[in-house]
Amino acid sequence: MYQPREQFRSGHKFGVEFGGAVLSFERVTDVLRRQWPIIVVSVGASLALVLAYLATTHPMYTANARIMMDTRQTQVLDKDNGTNSNLIDTGFVDSQVEVINSDDLIRSVVRRLHLTEDPEFSGSNPGPLGKLLGHVMSLFGSGEPPSPERVEQATVEHIQANLRVERVLTTYVLSLSYRALTPDAAVKIANAIADAYIVGALEAKYQSTKRATEWLQQRSAELSQQATASDRAVQTFKAEHNIVGTSRGLMSEQQLSDLNTQLVQARAATAEAKARLDRINAISDKDVTQTTVTDALNNPVITRLRAQYLDLAAQYSDWSRRYGAMHLATVNLASKMDELRKNIADEVHRIADAYRSDYEIAKSREASLEKNVNDLVAQAGHTGQAEVKLRDLESAADTYRSLYNNFLEKLQNATQNQSFPISEARLISTATKPDRKSSPRTMLALVGGLVSGLCLGFGLAFGREFLSDVLRTPGEVEDELGVKCLGVLPDIRPPTPAGALLSTSGKSTAPDLSRYVVDHPFSRFAETLRNIKVSIDVARLSREIKVIGIVSSLPKEGKTTVAANFAQLVALTGHPTLLIDGDLHTRSLTRELSPNAKSGLVETLNDPASLAYHVQRSKETGLDFLPSVVASRMLNSADVIGSRAMAELLKTLRDRYEYIVIDLAPVMPVADSKAVSFLIDAMVYVIEWGQTTRSALQESISGSEVLQKKLLGAVLNRANPKMLKRIEAYKGKHHNSYYVEHV
Ligand SMILES: Nc1ncnc2c1ncn2[C@@H]1O[C@H](COP(=O)(O)OP(=O)(O)OP(=O)(O)O)[C@@H](O)[C@H]1O
Ligand SMILES: [Mg+2]
Repeated sequence: MYQPREQFRSGHKFGVEFGGAVLSFERVTDVLRRQWPIIVVSVGASLALVLAYLATTHPMYTANARIMMDTRQTQVLDKDNGTNSNLIDTGFVDSQVEVINSDDLIRSVVRRLHLTEDPEFSGSNPGPLGKLLGHVMSLFGSGEPPSPERVEQATVEHIQANLRVERVLTTYVLSLSYRALTPDAAVKIANAIADAYIVGALEAKYQSTKRATEWLQQRSAELSQQATASDRAVQTFKAEHNIVGTSRGLMSEQQLSDLNTQLVQARAATAEAKARLDRINAISDKDVTQTTVTDALNNPVITRLRAQYLDLAAQYSDWSRRYGAMHLATVNLASKMDELRKNIADEVHRIADAYRSDYEIAKSREASLEKNVNDLVAQAGHTGQAEVKLRDLESAADTYRSLYNNFLEKLQNATQNQSFPISEARLISTATKPDRKSSPRTMLALVGGLVSGLCLGFGLAFGREFLSDVLRTPGEVEDELGVKCLGVLPDIRPPTPAGALLSTSGKSTAPDLSRYVVDHPFSRFAETLRNIKVSIDVARLSREIKVIGIVSSLPKEGKTTVAANFAQLVALTGHPTLLIDGDLHTRSLTRELSPNAKSGLVETLNDPASLAYHVQRSKETGLDFLPSVVASRMLNSADVIGSRAMAELLKTLRDRYEYIVIDLAPVMPVADSKAVSFLIDAMVYVIEWGQTTRSALQESISGSEVLQKKLLGAVLNRANPKMLKRIEAYKGKHHNSYYVEHV
């Protein structure tokens, strides 16, 4: 019985809903079984393309050289930046890739190796496609041969196209690969480019140090002049301003300090002289004999005179006491004493004069020194200003000198660098001759071709399957209808000889097909119909199935052929069987089985008593046939076939026959089948293999509930035998041997 599609799916099979169809494992294998030729063709075509590519492409050889960016060498001379140059920034390494790829570098290689004269590089030997393109381009161009510059540029571009320079991961190593038609050319050019790069780097370094040296030379010469000039300016200035440098400083400073010391001394001397003078002036003539005065003077003459005086004074006091003061001796003594006193006073005066003179001298010396100091101080004021200027000049001279020294050192380094330039780049692996071609990669291309062929094949196969809405396998039928697929009937049209296709009319082959089971009882076609009978018989165990309707969605799906063959097959088994032509529109069954019939079903319905008259029995098969003959197309065929009379007729026939097979009209164009379906026990639905669409099927089935209920099973008709073999390959290679008819 018919089940709705959804119910069937959820209940029975595991699968993935894909574009409205269930993509189950069985379905995939079905698709592969059916569509494998497409896959094979795709793979074949893609492999053929790959082979053609391999056969037509020139083999290419790749040579690889490696260059290392090394900074440690540069540190030998570059002491100033020794710490920083350890770190090459990644941008530097990346930019070296561009340097190697640059037009100028490649051009230098082209010129050195004279590559413009080599047709492989200059493009003067293009492939067939290139020649064709050249011809086409020449139609638009001036037609003149290209200029040498153009040829050189083309060569440079050709080399750039075949050159691959890349940084090896995050290291400071650059990998330089060149692809050429011969291994020798690949090695030659790869090494030439690497050399050109390293020489270029050295040259660049040499040039830059040369420029730097020149500049340094010029600058140091200037500085030397400036330093000398400023030194000279210092000396001149000193001379002009009487500034003499000593170990203790400038001359003027030293003088001043010396004078100051002298002045202090002179002042002290003056003060002393004055004190002495004052003291001596204070002594009067009377007390010159006083001990204090004479001791203070500490003069030997005065001391001697005083000692004499003291002796005379002692004698005088003695004599005056003894002889009296008036005694002559005493008076003489007194006059001697006066004389001595006078002498002492004179001596004191003389000393006083000497002291005065000393004082005067000291005073004048002090005055002179003071004047000197004042002069010097006044002079130092001028010298101070000059000194500021001098300091200025001296510091300028110092600066120039140290700058000059600095530049001189740099110049020495630069000169060394220039005579021995060191580059950061170093060739760590020279390109060697490749022993095998690098392209085309045969294995890779073949695998790629195989994989892409498979992908394309699978894509096409599944695309064809899923895009096509038709049914080809019992599984698909069961999925779609939810009823059992009773069998797949192969296309039984005999193979038409070539050329006879147009001349062979459908009519000439039709009679053969309507009795195919009689002529080919062991064919697959007959066996499938037997299988249908078995299914019906199994169903008959549970309910009465006598009236079997053969129906389809659309015309020409094979209802008539199936009905005729099925009925004949059942009749041949000995069961009383009746075949009714229930298609009142085409009546093809009647035309094939009983072309001469003048009346049939319609007449029997009008007059049930005439049944026996209208039923024709086949002597060969024992099949009874009730034809339909209608003069013109009937408007009310559905009414006729679904009429009460029809019910009565079938009732009568049920008693007489075991099997009543009715060939019905298609469901979609006309209503006949739906009208009669309630009178029928079981419907067998004919679906044309690879033709009937799922949508047509769904539309026709869902249109009638009765039809759904009565649906016993479906049968796929006109399956392509070759395809069928592929689909059923899983049944084994001997499966079809049962259907081989032994003549
Ligand atoms: N299994 C088959 N192998 C080869 N040809 C077939 C097969 N089944 C049917 N045909 C051919 O297909 C054509 C249509 O078949 P048939 O008349 O049986 O279909 P139908 O469904 O009865 O058509 P209609 O709706 O017009 O009555 C006929 O020419 C018939 O010979
Ligand atoms: Mg028909």
